[in-house]
Amino acid sequence: MSNIVVVGTQWGDEGKGKVVDLLAEKAHMVIRFQGGNNAGHTMVVDGEQFISHLIPSGILHKDKPCVIGNGVVVDPGVLIQEIEDLRDRGIAIGPYNLLISENAHLIMPYHKLIDHGRERLKGDKKIGTTGRGIGPCYEDRVTRRGIRFCDLIDPETFKEKLSSILGERNFYLKEFLKSETVAEAEILEEYLPYAEALRPHVTNVSVAINQAIKAGHDILFEGAQGTHLDIDHGTYPYVTSSNTVAGNACCGAGVGPTQINGVIGIVKAYTTRVGRGPFPTELHDATGDLIQERGVEFGATTGRRRRCGWLDTVVVRNAVRLNGLTALAITKLDVLSNIETLKICTAYQCKRDKLTEFPSDLKVLGACEPIYEELPGWPDDITAIQDINDLPENARAYVKRIEELTETTVQIVSVGAGRKQTIVLQDPFGR
Ligand code: GDP
Ligand code: IMO
Ligand code: MG
Repeated sequence: MSNIVVVGTQWGDEGKGKVVDLLAEKAHMVIRFQGGNNAGHTMVVDGEQFISHLIPSGILHKDKPCVIGNGVVVDPGVLIQEIEDLRDRGIAIGPYNLLISENAHLIMPYHKLIDHGRERLKGDKKIGTTGRGIGPCYEDRVTRRGIRFCDLIDPETFKEKLSSILGERNFYLKEFLKSETVAEAEILEEYLPYAEALRPHVTNVSVAINQAIKAGHDILFEGAQGTHLDIDHGTYPYVTSSNTVAGNACCGAGVGPTQINGVIGIVKAYTTRVGRGPFPTELHDATGDLIQERGVEFGATTGRRRRCGWLDTVVVRNAVRLNGLTALAITKLDVLSNIETLKICTAYQCKRDKLTEFPSDLKVLGACEPIYEELPGWPDDITAIQDINDLPENARAYVKRIEELTETTVQIVSVGAGRKQTIVLQDPFGR
């Protein structure tokens, strides 16, 4: 038995969807444990692209149970649309392969309005959120006025909870954010049919997951966002509103820490970031543009152009510690082909100090200059390579150097978006 958590090590979009889809073949169950439809996870199978925002990236494997854990904030309209889109593409979805936690919180129309209103009001100082209502929904969760799936599927409770919170939220929208408000009748008309559509999927997922673990099955936990977008450990306040680190897989799914056997960190071979916030190795030159274009670095959720820069191993080492990573998966190595000299950041120069640990204080981080090590690139196209020994020597040296600098074993190297464009050095499930 092996239960594995997959997390992003950087600022999201590392290729978690691709790796989870690949590993899901061998897992019994795949669970999303945090975030919401701010995530966009891409899977490419036989040339066909699928992007999931809420449904775990195991869904393309027939009859594989996929679970939306209690830690996820769910916009039910988006979820229903996602189910319909998958069905239209021939993927069967029913209560047997899509389970939703009765404790998961609902994103409500006022959460989205608040998200937009706050960003508008912040002007220059905005976070650059995805505008999906994620922060305001988590905020209602911690102040104990959220609405959960168990409330949605009981219309009386749903109406009661909605009317107890809506007055306050509308007052805030109208008077403080100078935004439009939303009428109770309108929400009921929209949300009550959602209850009917989703009721068969709503269950106690902690029981289902722990039964699967007890039966000796291998379980995969799929993180969203990345370590440096974590609400506690990321570049606060330029972060998302949940804990993205592996420890939250337990809280967000309803399993104990004793059940986790491994944590794989996904590392993009360079660095990207969408939205605002510090990014020490960001490139503002032709190389940055080249990586952005070659890597097709546009947000899978908002379509925004992703900021690009060199690989930062201060960042990755931080992720190794915060998540207790047992292995790495390197993605998008193919994007670095044909660049004469590659750079890897190994430490930061901060005024007179050399820093080897990622600083928490944004003022300190803002004063940091990356210290780079240069490595020779490789001219070859590597997108068809299946064996590590067939990679150009310089590409192998690049991977090896990541292992050395992070003191963590690389188990997977991805050389293209397709499921098959992957070199597996060691089976994460240890089979
Ligand atoms: P996620 O949010 O971590 O799941 O990542 P995204 O799906 O947002 O972004 C990763 C993008 O890179 C997607 O378009 C993937 O199809 C693509 N991708 C993943 N792995 C590779 C790879 O090894 N090479 C290339 N060229 N593209 C990849
Ligand atoms: P995946 O799972 C990249 C970023 C947003 C913004 C900040 C806060 O696909 O890797 P939010 O809407 O969460 O309040 O926005 O977090 N962000 C992501 N960036 N990948 C993601 O998800 C992200 N989810 C949120 O751009 O900077
Ligand atoms: Mg993404």
